[in-house]
Amino acid sequence: MHVSLCEGIDWVGFVDWTVRDFHSYSTERGTTYNAYLIRDEQTALIDTVKEPYGAMLLDNIAGLIDPAKVDWVVCNHAEPDHSGVLPQVLAAMPNATLVCNAKCLSALAKHYDTTGWKTKIVAPGDTLSLGKRTLEFINTPMAHWPESMFTYVRQDKLLFSMDAFGQHCATTERFDDENCIGTVLEEARTYYANILMPYGASTHKAMDSVSGLDIEIIATSHGVIWRSHIPKILEAYRQWTSGKPQPKIIILYDTMWESTAAMARAFEEGAATPGVHVKVIHVRRNTLTTIAADVFDAAAVAVGSATLNGTMMPQLGAVFAYLHGLKPTAKVAVGFGSYGWGRGSAEAIQENLEGLKWNVLRTPIKSQYRPTPEILAECRAAGALLAQKALEMSGASV
Ligand code: FEO
Repeated sequence: MHVSLCEGIDWVGFVDWTVRDFHSYSTERGTTYNAYLIRDEQTALIDTVKEPYGAMLLDNIAGLIDPAKVDWVVCNHAEPDHSGVLPQVLAAMPNATLVCNAKCLSALAKHYDTTGWKTKIVAPGDTLSLGKRTLEFINTPMAHWPESMFTYVRQDKLLFSMDAFGQHCATTERFDDENCIGTVLEEARTYYANILMPYGASTHKAMDSVSGLDIEIIATSHGVIWRSHIPKILEAYRQWTSGKPQPKIIILYDTMWESTAAMARAFEEGAATPGVHVKVIHVRRNTLTTIAADVFDAAAVAVGSATLNGTMMPQLGAVFAYLHGLKPTAKVAVGFGSYGWGRGSAEAIQENLEGLKWNVLRTPIKSQYRPTPEILAECRAAGALLAQKALEMSGASV
């Protein structure tokens, strides 16, 4: 199977309909591993796919050209979902030279036996002529790994953007305008929050490095190819990488006998304010992936839990462990929780909120067993305070 992007350039990747866990990322819509073949006076393969899908990639290429005639294999990113079949691919392409930057080759050598591979190391600004077209290489470190790189084809106004602008989304249609754009943008947002958020500044720099280029196609390594909605995805990335929060309050909680759930509902009631979006999330009914996507651009977060064995409930612990790695910034927060005796969840939540370096607005609200009307009123007041702060931080009028 192959799909034409423009004359001489085809998608030859693999659609993974069945993957539901991508190193803990819940991929409910599956994903794609995108690879592209450029046929010019010389032929270049841009990126490969994840194991064990090398045979499918080679079949797709064989539908266009004898793989033995491929001259160049460009590796923009060493992560195994894009490089895993390189040993198989290079064995099938005895005339091909691998093109990558020095950091990429170093990473590949730690994953695979690279002995015998023909390689060409490229530095930022280097070019490679294929005939009518020239490949231009742009280093984009830490968007997503140290060796990450974009490849640009000026003649086709086409950017191979590797992970950036990608989405975990399996579809038969390869282009943005052939799919529901709302769904594609939502998956792009979830992808950014879970993969690139810790590297937001690096991703912002990567965008700056291509801001002067004329781009009509963005060929990502996952999901659909951008051609009709490029301004939308660029604007979304500008907003996401800016770190500026939205007027949103996320209320995360877990509950044992409904006391903490009642407190969460009181936060929701108090937070109800025109212009502020409020979302209540029971952490055991949602995935870490969607929780990260909800939290990453929210201005305010309330976090609560019942006490289980002297601390918060375990799924909330997993949420905090995940968020500590992703490092979402620019948030105000309040903790809450119920307990029976002794030290409880609220203290553990407070420590975690402070550990995230969020602006924790007050001591946690605690309820022994059932929350009293006074405690629920305190939760409503804290919800209202979070709403006011969310408006202020997002720049919306108060
Ligand atoms: Fe799709 Fe960072 O790999």
